[in-house]
Amino acid sequence: MYSEKVMDHFQNPRNVGEIEDASGVGTVGNAKCGDIMRIYLDIDDDQIIRDCKFKTFGCGAAVATSSMATELVKGKSIYEALKITNKAVMEALDGLPPVKVHCSLLAEEAIHAALWDYAQKHDITIEGLEKPKADISEDEEEEDY
Ligand code: FES
Repeated sequence: MYSEKVMDHFQNPRNVGEIEDASGVGTVGNAKCGDIMRIYLDIDDDQIIRDCKFKTFGCGAAVATSSMATELVKGKSIYEALKITNKAVMEALDGLPPVKVHCSLLAEEAIHAALWDYAQKHDITIEGLEKPKADISEDEEEEDY
């Protein structure tokens, strides 16, 4: 049912934890399943993401996708990170079962929320970044898979 990569990232999640004085912190939840994810970004003066950590109170697929998402954003610029979609995270994990696809949205939205927080704190605008929702389940019906 789950790919080996999903199992690996679920059992040995990368980058679990918190970053003290993070440049940006994003928290999103899905009211339907009750799962919550928080992502911390450490962003340097050149707007490069130097470090990324996460905490997920959620299902195995949410843990695996957050773990992979943190691996993907590290070393990227904020604009490159903005382009990382839940589909890219799923592809990097060799796919998710259809009923678990929505779990991958938490990671994408949590990154956006952390970037939003960073932009607010530094009084800048990140082109293409929309104000994130605290509850992503509102959008789910519109997602087309
Ligand atoms: Fe809620 Fe997976 S079931 S994120």
